[in-house]
Amino acid sequence: MKETLNVLLLGSGGRENALAWKMAGSPLLDKLYCMPGNPGMEKVAVLLSGRPTDFPKVAEYVTLYGIDMVVAGPEDPLVEGLRDYLASDPATSGVLFVGPDRSGARLEGSKDFAKGFMGRHGIPTAAYRTFDKDSLSEAIEFLDTLRPPYVLKADGLAAGKGVLIIDDRQEAVRELEEMFSGKFGDAGAKVVIEQFLSGIECSVFVLTDGEDYMILPEAKDYKRIMDGDLGLNTGGMGSVSPVPFADGVFMKKVEERIVKPTVAAFGAEGMDYRGFIFIGLMNCDGEPYVIEYNVRMGDPETEAVMPRIESDLLSHLKAAASRTLKDEKLEVSGKTALTVIAVSGGYPGSYEKGKVISGLDALEGVTLFHSGTARSAEGDVLTAGGRVLAVVALEDDLESAREKVYSEIGKISFDRMFYRHDIGCDVAKYL
Ligand code: AMP
Ligand code: GLY
Repeated sequence: MKETLNVLLLGSGGRENALAWKMAGSPLLDKLYCMPGNPGMEKVAVLLSGRPTDFPKVAEYVTLYGIDMVVAGPEDPLVEGLRDYLASDPATSGVLFVGPDRSGARLEGSKDFAKGFMGRHGIPTAAYRTFDKDSLSEAIEFLDTLRPPYVLKADGLAAGKGVLIIDDRQEAVRELEEMFSGKFGDAGAKVVIEQFLSGIECSVFVLTDGEDYMILPEAKDYKRIMDGDLGLNTGGMGSVSPVPFADGVFMKKVEERIVKPTVAAFGAEGMDYRGFIFIGLMNCDGEPYVIEYNVRMGDPETEAVMPRIESDLLSHLKAAASRTLKDEKLEVSGKTALTVIAVSGGYPGSYEKGKVISGLDALEGVTLFHSGTARSAEGDVLTAGGRVLAVVALEDDLESAREKVYSEIGKISFDRMFYRHDIGCDVAKYL
């Protein structure tokens, strides 16, 4: 096999822009293709039209462009079984693949499955039970054994909206009934009810070949739209890495109690897991509990994680996909990366698209990733989503990273542009 790789990266957000940017610097890269990608990746990749869940199209590109490795950005092609699909056809079965097969992707695709997996392997998580519409009365009985706030989770993928945290018992019962009546479609046919965990959250990222693993830099994301963590939930308004409260003692607990048993369980459960696993954690008085597994990197965490990785990500990915991760050595910068997301006015509610973005060329000393943008026929960069751009600074410490991002992001403008001003502020007290 030739030394360098043709890589097909699937996805179109800030996460994929950050992955593309990082892989582009690798001496192992021959050519990078992104499907569908976005204008932020134009300089480093060839953009190919299509959706990552269009499996025949992905297979066609793999053959047409001589792709050696496919990297899945988002979860939906994984949950729908893209890896199994490519493996089942002799024309594409030889391609390396970063991302679990359908059985591994159930860790994100079914919350009930993920909770059962954690239970079977002694991985710390909130107490829970799962119910369906035929067990509504048992569900209410279980609810009454818990103290508010009540945590209700649609079992399946619900575009990030399937978790409800409700203070009032009557409202919780009403929501439960609505979930069973199809509020989230099939995703809500089963509902996980779990104990509320009180603490501070952090995202831990692991790259594994199913046997060995490397723990990538951790990050914290900021989900609410407004400063002070107020207002509606969004896809993420910013991120910071490292996370000051995830110190050596905490991360040792995470590795021993969560990462090691999780990776060991892949083998024990017969999963051929090769790819990222993103562990959403709650730090409850210094003790880590798993809130959720995702089978991909986080967005906007990736935009803060990638700039801190100093070793060759592409080499690590190739090793994960070919089961040789034990030979790889991760190198991480001790600097702080801080990401602020510029969003369209109105987001996460309705918003307009197609606004011309100006000021991008004026940015200095920061890295820019595109999340939701498009290129107009005239060559302008236009807004094309709720989350539009990610501006990232990598500096010696948190305060300098904050100063740098906020001095630069002000140079960008588009009609009704909005961003949070307090990314990273809450964690300063743990320094
Ligand atoms: P998930 O989609 O599982 O990430 O849940 C969305 C968000 O709900 C999480 O990021 C947490 O902020 C919150 N959450 C989920 N489960 C719990 C829990 N058991 N206790 C407290 N907060 C939770
Ligand atoms: N930032 C959280 C996620 O990507 O799911």
